[in-house]
Amino acid sequence: MHLSISCLLVSLVGLAQAVSYRRTDNVVGEEFDDFFEYQAIPDPTFGRVTYVDRTTAVAQNLTFAKDNTFILRADGKQVLLDPSGPGRNSVRIRSRKTFTTHVVVFDVRHMPEGCGTWPAVWETQEEGWPVGGEVDIIEGVNNIGTNAATLHTSPGTFASTSLVQMTFKQQDCNWLVNGNAGCGALMRDQLSFGPSFNANGGGHFAFERTPRYMKVWFWPRSAGNVPRDLGTQYVNPDTWGIPAVFFPDTSCDFEKMFSAHHIIINLSLCGEWAGHPAIYPASCPLTCVEHVNKNPTAFKNAFWDFKAIDIYQRDTRVCKNKSKRSAM
Ligand SMILES: *[C@@H]1O[C@H](CO)[C@@H](O)[C@H](O)[C@H]1NC(C)=O
Ligand SMILES: *[C@@H]1O[C@H](CO)[C@@H](O)[C@H](O)[C@H]1NC(C)=O
Ligand SMILES: *[C@@H]1O[C@H](CO)[C@@H](O)[C@H](O)[C@H]1NC(C)=O
Repeated sequence: MHLSISCLLVSLVGLAQAVSYRRTDNVVGEEFDDFFEYQAIPDPTFGRVTYVDRTTAVAQNLTFAKDNTFILRADGKQVLLDPSGPGRNSVRIRSRKTFTTHVVVFDVRHMPEGCGTWPAVWETQEEGWPVGGEVDIIEGVNNIGTNAATLHTSPGTFASTSLVQMTFKQQDCNWLVNGNAGCGALMRDQLSFGPSFNANGGGHFAFERTPRYMKVWFWPRSAGNVPRDLGTQYVNPDTWGIPAVFFPDTSCDFEKMFSAHHIIINLSLCGEWAGHPAIYPASCPLTCVEHVNKNPTAFKNAFWDFKAIDIYQRDTRVCKNKSKRSAM
């Protein structure tokens, strides 16, 4: 029986350690501009932003790619004179590919911070939303909190409590409940969001999605327990320890509720969450929208800085032929 070299290598590695996922995408620096498309669309959550196309983003240096750096930011220069005119320029990018069972690791140096900011890294099918569901992996507003990981679905999905201790904001994932709040769980690590995340040099977020569960991990930069397989060709999340957030499928049919998802990175300002009068902090200036209109320099730290995004998928060839080969 003929075995290709790559297959043989895979099988040898497979014997040495239980390999679950093989890297299919290693997105670094300029590769962000191929892997993602820019979405110059109206903000579906009514943020005070204008999402620009790639040409505009590059011309205004709202995205910047070099070596192992990819920056994505909101404009920090223009005063918006017309309160009913377009919002502050910002960027929303969406992966061309879609993913079902996969692991994705985000190596992030900096996330957008500041009053009115609403950064998000998330996954959805997008067309026909909420059909196909939504998973928010990194999200929060106005510098507040720890990071929240949240599911949004059609009716019929509940986040179950599990062995992992989590603080739920709400357990019903149904988008129709409580203004699409979703079933969000807050991470316990104070370094997982906002200025404290940035002051610590960022860190790694990882997400594993299977038909049976979804897990999100966070390791602050320089943490002692960052898994050694991050950034390599193969990862085995079973060795990563207890996730920060764990959604088992016990009260949800994941295969029915979640379709193939794009990865989306966006930076909104104000909008339904960050700008909600009950949410926008009293310690922040003006109203959220006035702040965005009048104070461009307040947004100089409203930027993402990604070192890399690695995506891993199951190597079905390895799994299917494993027993045969080991019997050889
Ligand atoms: C930004 O991301 C969040 C993630 O939850 C999403 O709810 C929101 O609709 C997104 N905003 C835009 C403008 O895409
Ligand atoms: C664009 O942004 C990058 C990263 O912040 C910076 O190093 C570079 O100097 C900027 N370029 C210009 C022309 O402002
Ligand atoms: C795996 O096994 C199947 C059938 O047993 C075979 O057709 C296929 O070529 C094998 N794949 C590889 C990569 O060896």
